[in-house]
Amino acid sequence: MMAGRIPQHFIDDLLARTDVVDVIDSLLPLKKKGANYSACCPFHNEKTPSFTVSQDKQFYHCFGCGASGSAISFLMEYSHLDFVESIEELASRAGVEVIREQGFEPSQPKRDLAPLTKMNEQAAGFYQQQLRQHAQASMASDYLKKRGLTGEVAKVYQLGFAPPGWDNLLSSLGQNEESLSELRELGLVVTNENNKTYDRFRERIMFPIRNKRGQTIGFGGRVFDQGEPKYLNSPETPLYHKGREVYGLYEALKATNKIQHLIVVEGYLDVISLYQQGITNVVAALGTAITREHVDLLFRSVSELVICMDGDSAGQKAAWRAVINAMPALRSGRQIKVLLLDQGQDPDSVIREQGAEHFEQLIERSSPLSSYFFDYLAKQHALENIEGRASFAEQAKPLLNTLPAGAFSELMKKQLSHITQIGRQERGASARPRFGSSQASRRSAKKSPSVMRHLMTILLHEPQLAEKIAADESWLAIDVPGMALLKNILDILHEEVAVSPAMLLERFRGSEYEKTINMLFAEEKLIASELSEQEFLGAIERLKEQARKSRYDELSSRASTLTDEEKKEFKELLK
Ligand code: UTP
Ligand code: MN
Repeated sequence: MMAGRIPQHFIDDLLARTDVVDVIDSLLPLKKKGANYSACCPFHNEKTPSFTVSQDKQFYHCFGCGASGSAISFLMEYSHLDFVESIEELASRAGVEVIREQGFEPSQPKRDLAPLTKMNEQAAGFYQQQLRQHAQASMASDYLKKRGLTGEVAKVYQLGFAPPGWDNLLSSLGQNEESLSELRELGLVVTNENNKTYDRFRERIMFPIRNKRGQTIGFGGRVFDQGEPKYLNSPETPLYHKGREVYGLYEALKATNKIQHLIVVEGYLDVISLYQQGITNVVAALGTAITREHVDLLFRSVSELVICMDGDSAGQKAAWRAVINAMPALRSGRQIKVLLLDQGQDPDSVIREQGAEHFEQLIERSSPLSSYFFDYLAKQHALENIEGRASFAEQAKPLLNTLPAGAFSELMKKQLSHITQIGRQERGASARPRFGSSQASRRSAKKSPSVMRHLMTILLHEPQLAEKIAADESWLAIDVPGMALLKNILDILHEEVAVSPAMLLERFRGSEYEKTINMLFAEEKLIASELSEQEFLGAIERLKEQARKSRYDELSSRASTLTDEEKKEFKELLK
């Protein structure tokens, strides 16, 4: 049962029926404050309220941490729902059915995965029961005890025991063809080339892997003490994709409802061991590198990640790769930190040897991405000479270019040029007067991004101001950063009436401009409407002036080759 896309008009209608104040107030009590509503921000720690909800604009904004968005974003961030789930939630609050686009049915109807999920859950139950009842269960429980784990934490993670023998699970759950084929598809039993079918997991401690919603999607199984492979994992199945899921997210979200950050570690046992010591906000990758998809998944639940890898060279490399993969996801408000443990340590050993408090301190003191990034590269290049600085810059630049546009990206690039001193020389060179261009025009050209940004920010907050700009005004043709996006926004606003800021925000979800739009929204304080119109018109004037100046520069630079018409235009501009 797979439905088509949710049409944009439905989302617009839904937002028009929804009051963001009601939605947020039902989850986080708000107080009226002037024209707006406020509360202590649920997305960062604070004592005085800087989280503000605007009924007019139908969106929220936190002056402290920069979180902002529509009712949809609030449900996504606060209630950890995905986009479609948030829409469904709002629809049910509004008492309407979610509409799906027709003619979008995939050629193959999407398969119902519920029976597979159910089978996995039965298998998890079976392994758990074996840990309690099997004649040889003590080999498992003794091992867990030796690792310092309590029965309590084993229950939280539903740890189990796959007993020795080839057909324990098989004979218990694979009675008929249907269940047998499910077990096979889930990788719980294997059929070899001699057509013999047997249990994949034998004589192992079983770690069920659950997705964010708590459904069991796969398993990891650890040998007792020595043996190869140390961990055997479910193969990729219709339910289990190791590049997309993490271990422990469900348990972490369940343990705390206002989770601030997640610690990302390497191993299943690191997760469980930290949890047992009261550090419950921990997840692990599933024996793979941390991917962009992992990072996106985690950033849907928290705004800060601490990457904490083992203190060996594999761990160091894994941390670097994780950081590189995460950089494109670092839109404003999101943060990554890195904690590198000492050689030979992993989170499990640190917390067992030195205690939870010590581990928390290490987390507190973990390096922000900015210092980790440059420190890591500095170790690989000889910064004392130009060659080393050049190769440093060459490695860093493309990586920094993957950061979403914004203050963080700009500061990182500044830091790079500071470290390598390349940028300083370049800037020195371009500061020499260029032939044919006046001081004034260069100054205004440099200012263009911020005027443009200011203009767009006001427009996003006060969409009705779009009527002040006609679609064919000539200054819309000048080539300044942001112009393409401005035209996009104007297109939407010229075409439709009564578009709220929240709707506009939602229009760009998933588009190439999403990050920029979010940034622009978050940038502006909720300025008073009366002032914004003046500022808006002022910004337009400045852009028009810029358009005239750049046209003037262009014409004057080829003064001897102007057509008659251009000469006339030039004279006009001179006035
Ligand atoms: P570790 O070897 O660090 O495992 O591998 P661990 O969880 O800390 O376990 P202990 O403390 O040694 O008992 C880290 C992760 O890499 C994956 C598993 O997800 C493991 O938790 N892994 C490791 C495998 O998938 N297969 C292996 O053979 C080894
Ligand atoms: Mn380990």
